[in-house]
Amino acid sequence: MRRGASQRAGSGAFLVLMLGFFVLGCDSLPGRPKESAEEAAQSMDFELLYATHCAGCHGADGNLGPALDLHDPVYLALVPPNRLRAVIEDGVPGTAMTAFAKERGGSLTEPQIEALVQGMLARWSDAQSLRGMALPPYAGPLGDPRRGAEVYATACGSCHGGEGRGGKKGHDIVDSSYLALVSDQALRSVVIAGRTDLGMPDWRGTRGSPLTSQQGSDVVAWLAAHRAPVVGRPIFEKPRG
Ligand code: HEC
Ligand code: HEC
Repeated sequence: MRRGASQRAGSGAFLVLMLGFFVLGCDSLPGRPKESAEEAAQSMDFELLYATHCAGCHGADGNLGPALDLHDPVYLALVPPNRLRAVIEDGVPGTAMTAFAKERGGSLTEPQIEALVQGMLARWSDAQSLRGMALPPYAGPLGDPRRGAEVYATACGSCHGGEGRGGKKGHDIVDSSYLALVSDQALRSVVIAGRTDLGMPDWRGTRGSPLTSQQGSDVVAWLAAHRAPVVGRPIFEKPRG
Protein backbone atom coordinates (compact mmCIF):
# COMPACT_ATOMS: atom_id res chain seq x y z
CA MET A 1 0.00 0.00 0.00
CA ARG A 2 2.58 2.45 1.21
CA ARG A 3 4.95 1.53 -1.53
CA GLY A 4 2.21 2.03 -4.16
CA ALA A 5 1.47 5.49 -2.84
CA SER A 6 5.06 6.59 -2.86
CA GLN A 7 5.44 5.19 -6.38
CA ARG A 8 2.45 7.26 -7.49
CA ALA A 9 3.94 10.28 -5.78
CA GLY A 10 7.24 9.53 -7.49
CA SER A 11 5.73 9.31 -10.95
CA GLY A 12 3.73 12.46 -10.24
CA ALA A 13 6.94 14.32 -9.47
CA PHE A 14 8.47 12.91 -12.65
CA LEU A 15 5.52 14.22 -14.69
CA VAL A 16 5.88 17.67 -13.21
CA LEU A 17 9.57 17.58 -14.03
CA MET A 18 8.92 16.51 -17.63
CA LEU A 19 6.24 19.17 -18.04
CA GLY A 20 8.76 21.67 -16.75
CA PHE A 21 11.17 20.67 -19.48
CA PHE A 22 8.52 21.01 -22.15
CA VAL A 23 7.51 24.44 -20.90
CA LEU A 24 11.13 25.56 -20.74
CA GLY A 25 11.77 24.00 -24.11
CA CYS A 26 14.10 21.11 -24.89
CA ASP A 27 17.00 23.49 -25.42
CA SER A 28 17.08 24.07 -21.71
CA LEU A 29 17.57 20.41 -20.80
CA PRO A 30 20.51 20.26 -18.46
CA GLY A 31 23.72 19.29 -20.24
CA ARG A 32 22.43 20.06 -23.69
CA PRO A 33 25.00 22.22 -25.47
CA LYS A 34 23.96 25.42 -27.20
CA GLU A 35 25.53 25.93 -30.57
CA SER A 36 27.18 29.23 -29.79
CA ALA A 37 30.86 29.53 -30.63
CA GLU A 38 31.68 30.28 -27.02
CA GLU A 39 29.86 27.20 -25.78
CA ALA A 40 31.50 25.05 -28.48
CA ALA A 41 34.90 26.25 -27.29
CA GLN A 42 34.16 24.96 -23.79
CA SER A 43 32.18 21.89 -24.75
CA MET A 44 33.02 18.33 -23.78
CA ASP A 45 30.19 16.99 -25.93
CA PHE A 46 31.45 14.55 -28.57
CA GLU A 47 28.79 15.35 -31.16
CA LEU A 48 29.41 19.06 -30.95
CA LEU A 49 33.20 18.76 -30.90
CA TYR A 50 33.18 16.39 -33.85
CA ALA A 51 30.74 18.50 -35.88
CA THR A 52 32.69 21.69 -35.20
CA HIS A 53 36.24 20.44 -35.80
CA CYS A 54 36.26 17.26 -37.86
CA ALA A 55 33.09 16.79 -39.91
CA GLY A 56 34.17 19.19 -42.67
CA CYS A 57 36.88 16.77 -43.80
CA HIS A 58 35.98 13.39 -42.30
CA GLY A 59 32.26 13.60 -43.08
CA ALA A 60 29.19 14.49 -41.04
CA ASP A 61 28.85 11.04 -39.51
CA GLY A 62 32.55 10.19 -39.64
CA ASN A 63 32.37 8.92 -43.19
CA LEU A 64 31.66 9.93 -46.81
CA GLY A 65 33.98 12.91 -46.44
CA PRO A 66 37.07 13.73 -48.50
CA ALA A 67 39.40 12.48 -45.73
CA LEU A 68 39.70 9.01 -44.21
CA ASP A 69 36.60 7.22 -42.93
CA LEU A 70 36.79 7.39 -39.12
CA HIS A 71 33.38 5.82 -38.61
CA ASP A 72 34.85 2.49 -39.53
CA PRO A 73 35.30 -0.44 -37.12
CA VAL A 74 38.23 -1.72 -39.17
CA TYR A 75 40.08 1.58 -38.96
CA LEU A 76 39.33 1.93 -35.25
CA ALA A 77 40.55 -1.63 -34.61
CA LEU A 78 43.67 -0.89 -36.65
CA VAL A 79 44.80 2.40 -35.16
CA PRO A 80 46.39 2.24 -31.69
CA PRO A 81 44.43 4.60 -29.39
CA ASN A 82 47.62 6.48 -28.51
CA ARG A 83 48.25 7.17 -32.16
CA LEU A 84 44.64 8.35 -32.57
CA ARG A 85 45.20 10.82 -29.73
CA ALA A 86 48.61 11.90 -31.04
CA VAL A 87 47.30 12.59 -34.56
CA ILE A 88 44.57 14.85 -33.21
CA GLU A 89 47.02 16.63 -30.90
CA ASP A 90 49.87 17.08 -33.36
CA GLY A 91 48.27 16.70 -36.79
CA VAL A 92 50.18 15.26 -39.72
CA PRO A 93 52.77 17.79 -40.94
CA GLY A 94 52.43 18.84 -44.54
CA THR A 95 48.80 17.70 -44.83
CA ALA A 96 45.39 19.25 -44.23
CA MET A 97 45.30 17.41 -40.89
CA THR A 98 46.44 20.25 -38.64
CA ALA A 99 47.35 20.06 -34.95
CA PHE A 100 44.33 20.52 -32.68
CA ALA A 101 46.04 20.69 -29.27
CA LYS A 102 46.13 24.18 -27.76
CA GLU A 103 49.82 23.87 -27.00
CA ARG A 104 50.35 23.13 -30.71
CA GLY A 105 48.47 26.21 -31.81
CA GLY A 106 45.13 24.40 -32.15
CA SER A 107 41.88 25.10 -30.37
CA LEU A 108 41.20 21.98 -28.29
CA THR A 109 42.12 21.21 -24.69
CA GLU A 110 43.46 17.82 -23.64
CA PRO A 111 40.11 16.76 -22.09
CA GLN A 112 38.30 17.74 -25.30
CA ILE A 113 40.71 15.65 -27.37
CA GLU A 114 40.16 12.77 -24.96
CA ALA A 115 36.39 13.19 -25.38
CA LEU A 116 36.84 12.91 -29.15
CA VAL A 117 39.02 9.79 -28.87
CA GLN A 118 36.68 8.06 -26.40
CA GLY A 119 33.60 9.19 -28.34
CA MET A 120 34.85 7.72 -31.60
CA LEU A 121 35.83 4.45 -29.95
CA ALA A 122 32.55 4.14 -28.06
CA ARG A 123 30.29 5.01 -30.97
CA TRP A 124 32.07 3.80 -34.07
CA SER A 125 34.17 0.79 -33.16
CA ASP A 126 32.90 -2.77 -33.11
CA ALA A 127 35.56 -5.08 -31.74
CA GLN A 128 33.05 -7.94 -31.74
CA SER A 129 32.69 -8.01 -35.52
CA LEU A 130 36.47 -8.28 -35.95
CA ARG A 131 37.11 -10.80 -33.22
CA GLY A 132 39.65 -13.45 -34.23
CA MET A 133 40.63 -11.57 -37.36
CA ALA A 134 44.31 -10.80 -37.84
CA LEU A 135 44.70 -7.27 -39.12
CA PRO A 136 48.05 -6.25 -40.57
CA PRO A 137 49.87 -3.86 -38.23
CA TYR A 138 48.89 -0.18 -38.43
CA ALA A 139 52.41 1.03 -39.13
CA GLY A 140 55.03 -0.61 -41.26
CA PRO A 141 58.16 0.26 -43.20
CA LEU A 142 57.87 1.00 -46.90
CA GLY A 143 58.27 -2.18 -48.91
CA ASP A 144 59.55 -2.89 -52.38
CA PRO A 145 57.89 -0.78 -55.12
CA ARG A 146 58.55 -3.41 -57.81
CA ARG A 147 56.73 -6.11 -55.86
CA GLY A 148 54.18 -3.42 -55.08
CA ALA A 149 53.45 -3.04 -58.79
CA GLU A 150 52.45 -6.71 -58.88
CA VAL A 151 50.30 -6.34 -55.78
CA TYR A 152 48.69 -3.32 -57.41
CA ALA A 153 47.93 -5.23 -60.61
CA THR A 154 46.17 -8.07 -58.77
CA ALA A 155 44.47 -6.23 -55.93
CA CYS A 156 43.79 -2.69 -57.14
CA GLY A 157 44.00 -2.32 -60.92
CA SER A 158 40.48 -3.60 -61.57
CA CYS A 159 39.13 -0.43 -59.93
CA HIS A 160 41.90 2.18 -60.21
CA GLY A 161 42.96 1.33 -63.77
CA GLY A 162 46.01 -0.40 -65.22
CA GLU A 163 48.59 2.15 -64.07
CA GLY A 164 46.73 3.66 -61.16
CA ARG A 165 45.63 6.57 -63.33
CA GLY A 166 41.98 6.01 -62.61
CA GLY A 167 39.51 3.39 -63.70
CA LYS A 168 35.85 2.57 -63.71
CA LYS A 169 35.46 2.37 -59.97
CA GLY A 170 38.29 4.37 -58.45
CA HIS A 171 40.06 7.65 -59.12
CA ASP A 172 43.67 8.42 -60.06
CA ILE A 173 45.81 7.49 -57.05
CA VAL A 174 49.24 8.16 -58.55
CA ASP A 175 48.54 11.79 -59.39
CA SER A 176 51.39 13.90 -57.98
CA SER A 177 49.05 16.59 -56.64
CA TYR A 178 47.07 13.94 -54.75
CA LEU A 179 50.20 12.24 -53.44
CA ALA A 180 51.60 15.58 -52.27
CA LEU A 181 48.65 15.91 -49.89
CA VAL A 182 48.89 12.55 -48.14
CA SER A 183 51.51 10.85 -45.98
CA ASP A 184 52.72 7.29 -46.48
CA GLN A 185 50.86 6.34 -43.31
CA ALA A 186 47.58 7.69 -44.68
CA LEU A 187 48.11 5.55 -47.79
CA ARG A 188 48.79 2.52 -45.59
CA SER A 189 45.72 3.25 -43.45
CA VAL A 190 43.57 3.34 -46.59
CA VAL A 191 45.13 0.19 -48.05
CA ILE A 192 44.30 -1.72 -44.83
CA ALA A 193 41.03 -0.13 -43.71
CA GLY A 194 39.76 0.66 -47.22
CA ARG A 195 37.18 3.33 -47.91
CA THR A 196 34.25 1.02 -47.43
CA ASP A 197 31.98 4.07 -47.23
CA LEU A 198 32.90 4.81 -50.88
CA GLY A 199 33.16 1.26 -52.20
CA MET A 200 36.84 0.52 -51.64
CA PRO A 201 37.33 -2.82 -49.86
CA ASP A 202 39.57 -3.20 -46.80
CA TRP A 203 42.72 -5.39 -46.78
CA ARG A 204 40.56 -8.49 -47.18
CA GLY A 205 39.83 -7.41 -50.75
CA THR A 206 36.99 -8.64 -52.91
CA ARG A 207 38.49 -11.95 -54.03
CA GLY A 208 39.01 -13.70 -50.75
CA SER A 209 42.77 -13.21 -50.69
CA PRO A 210 43.62 -10.71 -47.95
CA LEU A 211 46.74 -8.58 -48.33
CA THR A 212 49.62 -9.50 -46.02
CA SER A 213 51.42 -6.77 -44.11
CA GLN A 214 54.30 -7.09 -46.59
CA GLN A 215 52.00 -6.72 -49.59
CA GLY A 216 50.51 -3.63 -47.98
CA SER A 217 54.00 -2.19 -47.45
CA ASP A 218 54.92 -3.02 -51.05
CA VAL A 219 51.87 -1.43 -52.63
CA VAL A 220 52.32 1.70 -50.48
CA ALA A 221 55.95 1.86 -51.66
CA TRP A 222 54.72 1.59 -55.24
CA LEU A 223 52.27 4.46 -54.68
CA ALA A 224 54.91 6.56 -52.90
CA ALA A 225 57.37 5.98 -55.75
CA HIS A 226 55.02 8.12 -57.87
CA ARG A 227 55.59 11.15 -55.70
CA ALA A 228 56.93 14.07 -57.70
CA PRO A 229 57.67 17.64 -56.64
CA VAL A 230 54.61 19.86 -56.64
CA VAL A 231 55.11 23.61 -56.38
CA GLY A 232 54.35 24.80 -52.87
CA ARG A 233 54.08 21.33 -51.34
CA PRO A 234 56.58 19.56 -49.12
CA ILE A 235 57.87 16.21 -50.35
CA PHE A 236 57.27 13.19 -48.14
CA GLU A 237 59.87 10.53 -47.51
CA LYS A 238 61.10 8.81 -50.65
CA PRO A 239 60.89 5.01 -50.62
CA ARG A 240 64.10 3.08 -49.99
CA GLY A 241 65.75 0.96 -52.65
C1 HEC B 1 36.39 -2.45 -55.66
C2 HEC B 1 37.12 -1.28 -56.14
C3 HEC B 1 38.41 -0.90 -55.47
C4 HEC B 1 39.52 -1.68 -55.23
C5 HEC B 1 39.72 -3.16 -55.53
C6 HEC B 1 40.51 -0.79 -54.65
N1 HEC B 1 40.01 0.47 -54.54
FE1 HEC B 1 41.01 2.09 -53.83
N2 HEC B 1 39.31 3.18 -53.92
C7 HEC B 1 38.12 2.75 -54.45
C8 HEC B 1 37.14 3.80 -54.31
C9 HEC B 1 35.69 3.73 -54.76
C10 HEC B 1 37.79 4.87 -53.66
C11 HEC B 1 37.23 6.22 -53.23
C12 HEC B 1 36.73 7.10 -54.32
C13 HEC B 1 37.49 7.08 -55.61
O1 HEC B 1 38.67 6.76 -55.65
O2 HEC B 1 36.89 7.37 -56.63
C14 HEC B 1 39.16 4.45 -53.46
C15 HEC B 1 40.12 5.24 -52.88
C16 HEC B 1 41.47 4.92 -52.81
C17 HEC B 1 42.51 5.80 -52.37
C18 HEC B 1 42.33 7.23 -51.96
C19 HEC B 1 41.90 7.33 -50.54
C20 HEC B 1 41.83 8.73 -50.08
O3 HEC B 1 40.73 9.23 -49.95
O4 HEC B 1 42.89 9.32 -49.81
C21 HEC B 1 43.69 5.11 -52.42
C22 HEC B 1 45.07 5.59 -52.05
C23 HEC B 1 43.36 3.78 -52.89
N3 HEC B 1 42.01 3.71 -53.13
C24 HEC B 1 44.28 2.78 -53.09
C25 HEC B 1 43.95 1.48 -53.40
C26 HEC B 1 44.90 0.38 -53.42
C27 HEC B 1 46.39 0.53 -53.18
C28 HEC B 1 44.20 -0.74 -53.75
C29 HEC B 1 44.71 -2.15 -53.81
C30 HEC B 1 45.36 -2.68 -52.63
C31 HEC B 1 42.81 -0.34 -53.94
N4 HEC B 1 42.70 1.01 -53.73
C32 HEC B 1 41.79 -1.22 -54.29
C33 HEC B 1 37.87 1.54 -55.03
C34 HEC B 1 38.73 0.45 -55.01
C1 HEC C 1 40.92 20.27 -43.09
C2 HEC C 1 40.62 18.85 -43.16
C3 HEC C 1 40.68 18.01 -41.89
C4 HEC C 1 40.11 18.27 -40.67
C5 HEC C 1 39.28 19.48 -40.26
C6 HEC C 1 40.39 17.12 -39.84
N1 HEC C 1 41.12 16.20 -40.55
FE1 HEC C 1 41.81 14.44 -39.83
N2 HEC C 1 42.81 14.14 -41.56
C7 HEC C 1 42.76 14.94 -42.68
C8 HEC C 1 43.67 14.43 -43.67
C9 HEC C 1 43.90 15.01 -45.06
C10 HEC C 1 44.29 13.30 -43.10
C11 HEC C 1 45.39 12.44 -43.72
C12 HEC C 1 46.71 12.96 -43.23
C13 HEC C 1 47.87 12.18 -43.75
O1 HEC C 1 48.15 12.29 -44.94
O2 HEC C 1 48.48 11.42 -42.97
C14 HEC C 1 43.73 13.16 -41.78
C15 HEC C 1 44.09 12.15 -40.89
C16 HEC C 1 43.45 11.89 -39.71
C17 HEC C 1 43.72 10.76 -38.86
C18 HEC C 1 44.79 9.73 -39.06
C19 HEC C 1 44.53 8.74 -40.15
C20 HEC C 1 45.56 7.66 -40.16
O3 HEC C 1 46.26 7.50 -41.16
O4 HEC C 1 45.65 6.92 -39.15
C21 HEC C 1 42.86 10.84 -37.80
C22 HEC C 1 42.74 9.89 -36.65
C23 HEC C 1 42.09 12.05 -37.98
N3 HEC C 1 42.48 12.66 -39.15
C24 HEC C 1 41.13 12.49 -37.09
C25 HEC C 1 40.58 13.78 -37.13
C26 HEC C 1 39.76 14.35 -36.09
C27 HEC C 1 39.31 13.63 -34.84
C28 HEC C 1 39.47 15.62 -36.47
C29 HEC C 1 38.74 16.68 -35.69
C30 HEC C 1 39.34 17.05 -34.42
C31 HEC C 1 40.09 15.84 -37.79
N4 HEC C 1 40.75 14.69 -38.14
C32 HEC C 1 39.98 16.98 -38.53
C33 HEC C 1 41.98 16.06 -42.83
C34 HEC C 1 41.31 16.70 -41.81
